[in-house]
Amino acid sequence: MSGILEGKRILITGVLMESSIAFHAAKLAQEQGAEIILTAFPRPTLTERIAKKLPKPTKVIELDVTNDEHLGRLADLVGEELGSLDGVVHSIGFAPQDALGGNFLNTPFESVATAMHVSAYSLKSLTMACLPLMQNGGSVVGLTFDAQYAWPQYDWMGPAKAALEATSRYLARDLGKQNIRCNLISAGPIGSMAAKSIPGFSDLAAVWDHRSPLEWDLKDPEPAGKGIVALLSDWFPKTTGEIIHVDGGLHAIGA
Ligand SMILES: NC(=O)c1ccc[n+]([C@@H]2O[C@H](COP(=O)([O-])OP(=O)(O)OC[C@H]3O[C@@H](n4cnc5c(N)ncnc54)[C@H](O)[C@@H]3O)[C@@H](O)[C@H]2O)c1
Repeated sequence: MSGILEGKRILITGVLMESSIAFHAAKLAQEQGAEIILTAFPRPTLTERIAKKLPKPTKVIELDVTNDEHLGRLADLVGEELGSLDGVVHSIGFAPQDALGGNFLNTPFESVATAMHVSAYSLKSLTMACLPLMQNGGSVVGLTFDAQYAWPQYDWMGPAKAALEATSRYLARDLGKQNIRCNLISAGPIGSMAAKSIPGFSDLAAVWDHRSPLEWDLKDPEPAGKGIVALLSDWFPKTTGEIIHVDGGLHAIGA
């Protein structure tokens, strides 16, 4: 039986640990027939170590998404390996400690700017860096944490995710003519490195225990990975600028 990503070439950012959502997207993408390439931050050696746990070997390229030199050479390096791309996964988020955990009213703009640069603007930078390789159209998929609400502890990552969600819609607007779709998965809480760096994250995650219609497992990034793979596939051909919730249904519940 052939997979839903058979013949597709996909660039995946954000593989840092086995708990990374991107690791599960990479694993499922390979299982579904894709040829993938990973990008790594802060060090390729970390990602290379985790990549050994994937079903098939994959090349790893260093990419700090705020580094113009890294972005400038990305298409050449990926082109040498894969020739072209059918999909790009943006699984990147970061905010300095003073932008998280209840310090919202006192966070300096410098920290807000870093959060916005790494977590929101980078969706545009990464997509544009990969654009020369997507001449036959493609699918860009990012990850958000529902920015319609103000969450406890999440602080400036909230406005950064709101900016990410808007950026995704504008990319959908501007790249639709080139048959490039841009969509986001709005994931429920997962105990990854990024999540553990948010002070009080477990209190926030506990909301899922009593409000999520479907049982939610903090330790299971696979449902989010499946959502990413679905959006990379040909099974959402006319969907762009969309946000699909993979959150156990919590977004639909008022109280
Ligand atoms: N964990 C959750 O609860 C949750 C929920 C919803 C959405 N998300 C989002 O999912 C995405 C992946 O996060 P995760 O939970 O898998 O955590 P993670 O810590 O495994 O992944 C975050 C990734 O961001 C990368 N990154 C940080 N700064 C970077 C930079 N300057 N350049 C390039 N890469 C950089 C890190 O290398 C890491 O791989 C993020 O956008 C996150 O906000 C996470």
